[in-house]
Amino acid sequence: MIGNSDSNRPDNSSLQLPRHIAVVMDGNGRWANKRHLPRAAGHKAGVNATRKIVENCAKSRIEALTIFAFSSENWNRPKDEVSSLMSLFITTITAEVKKLHKKNVRVRFIGDRLRFSAKLQDSINNSEALTENNTGLTLNIAANYGGRWDIVNACQQLLIAVQEGGRPAEIDEAALNSFMALSDIPQPDLFIRTGGEQRISNFLLWQLAYAELYFVDTLWPDFSDDDFDAALDWFSGRQRRFGKTGQQIQQERGQQQADSSSVAQ
Ligand code: IPE
Ligand code: IPE
Ligand code: MG
Repeated sequence: MIGNSDSNRPDNSSLQLPRHIAVVMDGNGRWANKRHLPRAAGHKAGVNATRKIVENCAKSRIEALTIFAFSSENWNRPKDEVSSLMSLFITTITAEVKKLHKKNVRVRFIGDRLRFSAKLQDSINNSEALTENNTGLTLNIAANYGGRWDIVNACQQLLIAVQEGGRPAEIDEAALNSFMALSDIPQPDLFIRTGGEQRISNFLLWQLAYAELYFVDTLWPDFSDDDFDAALDWFSGRQRRFGKTGQQIQQERGQQQADSSSVAQ
């Protein structure tokens, strides 16, 4: 069973919902420090919050959730913290993947997995293979991921495509995008960062171009169902303009409503 269910929670079926949520799960270390616990205990507690948000996204029919588990810069942490994180990844993936599979969740990893141990790479590959045909929530786990790495990696593949006969003039946004992580799903529309810092920390630099940015002081292990609902509620009140004016957006919405009511008649 993933997370807990609470029938008293607000019904969000009429809200403007994001299709794809990206989360920087920050604050595990401070959560542990406050309790005079080792940082590893904070990471362990963070797994429960992760389980909860996966469950909530699935329930709210969000199409994709992308979580930042380990950045390309997190290798710079003390050796014992990095190794406890690696062990936690292996035990968590092994323990959770079957449950996720039963919930029809498709699990995928983004980032350079080749730097991980053979054992961790095996559990990553196995979890992707087991869940690849699932049709519910897509859960993308960013591990040894960096937004700049992603862009460089896409450029390398573009260059190969040009060497194989493509023309430089064919390089456009769509071509580069096709080599970026997550190019096969809608781009994140809601970015959530817990822990109070207001920065992107080299997460999805390309993909977040038009995401709504939501920062909350709650430390990740404390991120609750109510915090999730508050983020969705905030998102539902945003007017997404994509460069247009607010007036244009209102006119378009009015036109869509008129079209759909004439179809209904
Ligand atoms: C985020 O929590 C988890 C990882 C980076 C793996 P932190 O470990 O960064 O927690 P703080 O920011 O030190 O509190
Ligand atoms: C970002 O958090 C990475 C993850 C949540 C995995 P950090 O805690 O590493 O970010 P900075 O160092 O504070 O920017
Ligand atoms: Mg941090």
